[in-house]
Amino acid sequence: MKINSNFNNLKPSYLFRDIAQKTAAYKASHPDADIIKMGIGDVTLPLCQAAVTAMENAAREMGVKETFHGYPEAYGEDFLLLAIQDYYKREMGVTVDTNEICVTSGAKEDVANILDIFSTDNTVLIPDPVYPVYYDTNVMDGRKIKFISSNESNSFLPLPDESMSGDIIYLCSPNNPTGAAYTREQLKAWVNFALSHNAVILYDAAYEIFVSEKSCPRSIFEIEGARKCAIEFCSFSKTAGFTGTRCGYTVIPAELIFENTSLLSLWKRRQSTKFNGVAYIIQRGAAAVLTEEGIKQVRQNIDYYRTNTANMMKTFDKLNIKYYGGKNSPYIWLKCPNDMKSWDFFDLLLTKCNVVGTPGEGFGVNGEGYFRLSGFGDIDRTREALHRIETLLG
Ligand code: MLT
Repeated sequence: MKINSNFNNLKPSYLFRDIAQKTAAYKASHPDADIIKMGIGDVTLPLCQAAVTAMENAAREMGVKETFHGYPEAYGEDFLLLAIQDYYKREMGVTVDTNEICVTSGAKEDVANILDIFSTDNTVLIPDPVYPVYYDTNVMDGRKIKFISSNESNSFLPLPDESMSGDIIYLCSPNNPTGAAYTREQLKAWVNFALSHNAVILYDAAYEIFVSEKSCPRSIFEIEGARKCAIEFCSFSKTAGFTGTRCGYTVIPAELIFENTSLLSLWKRRQSTKFNGVAYIIQRGAAAVLTEEGIKQVRQNIDYYRTNTANMMKTFDKLNIKYYGGKNSPYIWLKCPNDMKSWDFFDLLLTKCNVVGTPGEGFGVNGEGYFRLSGFGDIDRTREALHRIETLLG
C-alpha cells in the first residue's frame, strides 16, 4: 500500500488548528488569562427565531410515523431549492433553475469536493493570500498551482492579465482573508478572461450577505457571461450562523459544458455516490432563513457583526494602522505595526493583550506582515479586545 505522497507537500497542520493549539498551550500555561478569540471566523450569535421554529417543527415531524423522513434528497429538498431560487431572484435579481442548485453540508466541503470532477492535469490559479482550503486541496491532488499576486498595489483585488494562464480559477468576494470585494467591472474582467481561456471560475460567495456597496455584486451570476464559466459556492454559516448546523449550496449552470460534458451532471454523479444529503431538520431551518422574515432577522445579526467591524475600523484609524476590508466583510485585514512579521504580531497580541487573531502568513506568502481579525465576536468582548490593543499600541 502506498499513501498519497502529495500530503508530504502540505504544511504539517491546518492553519486554524495551529492557532487553536497555540492558544490552548498559552491558556494552559496562563490559566488566568482572559483570552478573546478573534481568529477563526466563527459566529457567536444564536440562530434566528425563524430557523429555530422551523427546526423545532421539523424535529416533531421526525417523531411521527406519518411525517417521518428517511434519507434526504441527494441534491436538496424541493422546498429548500425553491427558497434558494427565490432568494437569488429577490436579493440579487439572478435567475437560477432549481435543478442547477445542489444543497450540501457547507461551502468548505464543496470547494474541496468539486475537485473530484476536474482532471489533475489542470493548472490552477489561486490568489495569494487565500483561504487555505483552495490551496491545500489542490496540493492533495497534485495539481499544478500558479499564484495570482494579491497585494497592496492592487488593493488585494488582483485582476487577470495576459501573462496568466490556467484552467481553474479561484475567486472569493468579499474576500477571505482580506475583506476586499470586487466591483462589477472587475468581476467582468475575470469572466471575460475565463471565457477566452476556456477556464472555469470557482467563485466562493460565502460572505455575500456582508456586501454593503451597490457597486459590488453578491453573486457572480450578476455578471453577463458568468453562466458559461462559473460555479458559485455559498453557505448558511456566515449568512445565518449555521457554522454548527452545517448547510450550504453550490450552483452549477446548465451552460457549463466542457469536453461535451455537463459539469452539473458530473457533480450530481459525484454527489449521489459520495453524499447522502443534508438532514431534513437542518434543511427546514435553512429554508426558513431565506424567507423574507428570516432574512430580516438574520440581517439584525449581520448588523451586530458590522458594529464590530466598524469599531475595529475606528480603532485602527485612531492608531494610524492601515487596513483593508470591514466595509463589505466581517474581516479586517491590517498591516502589522512597525513592519512586524505576522506570527510575531500574533504572539504579541496573545501574550500582551490576550487577543487571538489570524497571522496573514497562514494565508500565503503575500499575507506576511498582515493580520486578520474577525468581526464575528461578541460586541462587548470585541470592544474590550480593541481597548487592550489600543492601550498596547497607542
Ligand atoms: C475562516 O476563519 O477563515 C473561516 O471561518 C473558515 C471557514 O469558513 O471554514
